[in-house]
Amino acid sequence: MLTDRPVYATLPTSDVARLRRFYEDVLGFSVQQETPTTIYYAAGDGTFFAISRSSGTATGAHTQMAFRTTNIEADVAGLRERGVAFEEYELPKTVEGIADMGAGRAAWLKDPDGNLIGIFQFKAAGLHVADREGRDEIAAGPRIAIAIGSIIDLDVDVIVNAANSSLQGGGGVDGAIHRAAGPGLAEEAGRLAPCPPGEARITGGHRLKMRNVIHTVGPMWSGGDQGEADILASCYRSSLALAEGVDATSVAFPAISTGIYGYPAAKAASVAVREIAAWLDAHERPQTVILSAFSADTAIVLRRAMSDFGRPDLTGE
Ligand code: APR
Repeated sequence: MLTDRPVYATLPTSDVARLRRFYEDVLGFSVQQETPTTIYYAAGDGTFFAISRSSGTATGAHTQMAFRTTNIEADVAGLRERGVAFEEYELPKTVEGIADMGAGRAAWLKDPDGNLIGIFQFKAAGLHVADREGRDEIAAGPRIAIAIGSIIDLDVDVIVNAANSSLQGGGGVDGAIHRAAGPGLAEEAGRLAPCPPGEARITGGHRLKMRNVIHTVGPMWSGGDQGEADILASCYRSSLALAEGVDATSVAFPAISTGIYGYPAAKAASVAVREIAAWLDAHERPQTVILSAFSADTAIVLRRAMSDFGRPDLTGE
């Protein structure tokens, strides 16, 4: 069933026994490792997920865990036979539990704790820009679009880097960009450092195919009451202003702060969509903003933020 699909997640639960019955007996997972508080389940491609004893409760409002599959019809049909119910939405419109997401198809079920579990099947190619590839097609598409894959592979004028204030590179997307751009990037960026959280600096693209890299420093998540949302919003605005300054047609953003800095992905996605939309409403440049989703999970979260935002004229959603 779903056991051979790659996934990563930890689901907190106050009722381990009930949840494990669902994951083991209904969804068919086998226990990989068990500690007094946590049960680990093996999934596909060496991935695993865990259910962990906690006093917290699931909200069910966001996708908590997502599986990638190559045959969503068969999976949904098989799980339905086992009595699993799938969510039916107006947006995205689901038909018999399956929604067409443009870049692929998706279905959502709820476990007994109310965790929203996604099953996604993406189109064969690794990279999708709302079904468009290449600069001309990107320009002809919606002004905000999602691309799945590494940001350094995108065909855009400018990419944004989720940097730290030294602008000297790091892990995550920062590491990927610096590795691909070569040492000249850190040299040039170092002259513009330090860059405080919420601000941005622009450099050349060096060995990247993009003309420029905009380096912005996101907030570290510390609970949400330390001004994180304002700092994150400022990252998007500052970066877009620099992109406009170099007359960029297309700009791609990673999901700033949602990796090492720990900002919850769904909250960050709604800040990103809101700020980008506000900018695009008031400015002609950039023409198109691509939200770069390194993983399928990020793409799903961004997609939902776009449909929740309710501006199909900008997002095509
Ligand atoms: N392309 C697009 N997105 C990527 C890529 C890539 N090649 N690699 C990682 N990501 C995604 C992550 O999956 C995450 O969703 O970028 C998002 C941001 O994660 P991080 O790169 O960890 O950035 P952030 O959370 O802002 O942390 C910044 O990390 O690398 C260091 O120097 C950086 O200290 C700074 C901190």
